Amino acid sequence: KKRGKGHYSGSTSSSYTSSSGTDEENAQGEEPNDYNLLLQNPIDFVKDAVMSGTLDLDKLAEELKNKKELQRKERENKQLNERLSMKQQRASLPIYRHREGLLEAIGKHQVIIVVGETGSGKTTQIPQYLYEAGYNRKTGNEGSDREFMLVGCTQPRRVAAMSVAKRVSDEMDVKLGHEVGYCIRFEDRTNKDTKIKYMTDGMLLREFLREPDLASYSVLMIDEAHERTLQTDVLFGLVKDVARFRSDFKLIISSATLDAQKFSEYFDDAPIYEVPGRRYPVEILYTKQPEGDYVDAAVVTALQIHVTQQLGDILIFLTGQSEIETAASILEDRSRNLGGKIKELIICPIYASLPSNEQAKVFKPTPKNARKIVIATNIAETSLTINGIVYVIDAGFIKQNCYSPKTGVESLVVTPVCKASARQRAGRAGRLCPGKCFRLYTKWSYKHEIEESSIPEIQRTNLGSVVLLLKSLGIDDLINFDYMDPPPSETLIASVQQLYALGALNNLGELTTLGRKMAEFPLDPMLSKSLINSEKYGVSQEVMVIASMLSVNNNIFFYPKKGQNVTVANNAISAFYVTEGDHLTLLNVYNQWKDSNYSTQWCYENFVQPRALNRAKDIMEQLQNLCERVEVALKSNPTDKIQIAKALTSGYFYHTARLQRNGEYKTLKNPIDVDIHPTSSTFKEKPKCVIYYELVMTTKNYMRTVAQIQPEWLVEVAPHYYTQKEIEFGESSKKKLPKIKN
Ligand code: CDP
Ligand code: MG
Repeated sequence: KKRGKGHYSGSTSSSYTSSSGTDEENAQGEEPNDYNLLLQNPIDFVKDAVMSGTLDLDKLAEELKNKKELQRKERENKQLNERLSMKQQRASLPIYRHREGLLEAIGKHQVIIVVGETGSGKTTQIPQYLYEAGYNRKTGNEGSDREFMLVGCTQPRRVAAMSVAKRVSDEMDVKLGHEVGYCIRFEDRTNKDTKIKYMTDGMLLREFLREPDLASYSVLMIDEAHERTLQTDVLFGLVKDVARFRSDFKLIISSATLDAQKFSEYFDDAPIYEVPGRRYPVEILYTKQPEGDYVDAAVVTALQIHVTQQLGDILIFLTGQSEIETAASILEDRSRNLGGKIKELIICPIYASLPSNEQAKVFKPTPKNARKIVIATNIAETSLTINGIVYVIDAGFIKQNCYSPKTGVESLVVTPVCKASARQRAGRAGRLCPGKCFRLYTKWSYKHEIEESSIPEIQRTNLGSVVLLLKSLGIDDLINFDYMDPPPSETLIASVQQLYALGALNNLGELTTLGRKMAEFPLDPMLSKSLINSEKYGVSQEVMVIASMLSVNNNIFFYPKKGQNVTVANNAISAFYVTEGDHLTLLNVYNQWKDSNYSTQWCYENFVQPRALNRAKDIMEQLQNLCERVEVALKSNPTDKIQIAKALTSGYFYHTARLQRNGEYKTLKNPIDVDIHPTSSTFKEKPKCVIYYELVMTTKNYMRTVAQIQPEWLVEVAPHYYTQKEIEFGESSKKKLPKIKN
């Protein structure tokens, strides 16, 4: 099936047609009245009517009116049925029988822990129960200037926040963004009428800056607590405190699998409420040999299931967007080649930057005689429930943050899943009926090589943003903050030192004016610093565009996987390349798009993702408002590449690498081997000294988004951090950092 623009189809999705012939049935069942005759053959009808003198306009108008009325009634009926079935669906969820019990527990206790199988209805139902029970009503003059109190629910992931909000607004039959809304970074879809608000944990964390007592909220549900994201872990400490001094505030900590006891103890022995779920047995199958290429293995397994196993949808777990896209496109190719020999396959990738209508496709019921294959990251482990899954293919890996306070190197690493995750993944196959889980690793490896549970993110990531945020909230004693599991003190110290080197903290460990401004931006401290500092270099307009482009968590370019388009695309994309680096390349893309009057056609012609650019434009408008707020003047000097690179270096001097004699790169301080990613515009040129935006560890340590710099700039922009000597000889003699309070 052809869809949309030629070279854009294929890789992301396949459409499907429903096999029921409703149109024909309707046509046959119609009464042959004048209206229908007119529709069927207007010219003959008019001719006949005029010739025979029977043209009765009044009658025709009447019929038309009836017809319209009939259609309206049909539509209403359909909606009513949908709503009825929504109601039935809600009532059939395992949590439904616990509605009263839950409300009673929440009424009695300030904090409760809720544990229930994925799909039991926690995320979609509990906020609705609270709404129905009147938790949005104001009882006194509490809650800022809002007319209603908010029931809030946090999610670790953007996709979950959006899709759940959509689902709940459908269930309540209201428009998304009104009574039910969501808030994710750079996108706030709530308004003054909002009563149920879904949001990412990171967004709630930022709300503390405006409203440290969360005065707008009557109840807060911290969902998917077991994920233990950095933001969720910090939230725990903050909301626990809110609960202590706001007796009217209710807190729900919920999750699918949870070391409930540990959570209960942390929250001063809060009661645990368990929602029993239904679950069928799942047969677990392992590969005999370790798989070299798990993406390919996943595709092969999926097709084998499709050919040999009974109908039932398949869920594949991979680690990220590019793997998901690759798998989807191979699957489409192979199933197209098999053509009529196999039953219809509906391939649904799902990841954060997929447009919401494509995301919604995942939840649509699979047509009869077809099979759906959902390809997801660990988002489908617990935060999204997709009905109809009978087979799970678990590649056995996730992409994880990894940080070494010693080298200061932070990277995304593909690592094996833990046993707890593997069990959750398998469990997805047994919601409907007995299922099967195909693990693409050996039984031996499951038994001996895989960890029982994963390390909370707070213990394996850079804490720069969090430290900056806590400092802005006036929390100075970072060591003794009420962590559920404390971060390593070396990491805390390294983060404080980084903020000091960036100029966000002074040598007493206090927030500086610059630090206060940096905290206003929902960006990594290094990026906020570059942006704020760019004013000094007279290029804030340019750096703002670059920051927006960097914040689009999506590929800007479109790389076709194969076919003649590959060369065309590569040529089109490299035409944007600026040898000085990828940051300037991004700026170049944005500016050309702007010159095309933000044309979508232009995007298609140049192999640029229109969605990504539109999002960048959106983000830029918000950054512009923030710049205004913290009084960063927008200055422009589009041709001065040096000033732009210097401004970027003033934030990214921590991410520096230098070319070695052997043609490879080493990071400047605490050297480790790194390489420029092949998609970088600097890949061929190999500049002597570079800054990079991020490090991704796959087969090598790849620097992604790289810019050429002059080593001398480092001493100029970060005299606290670099000595002249280090720059000259490229050795890693460390300049002693002053001792900084915590
Ligand atoms: O949070 P929990 O895993 O307990 O369940 P939930 O997310 O509230 O899901 C309850 C039901 O709502 C599931 O059976 C899903 O099929 C359905 N749902 C949906 O159809 N679309 C969504 N975006 C989210 C949930
Ligand atoms: Mg949930």
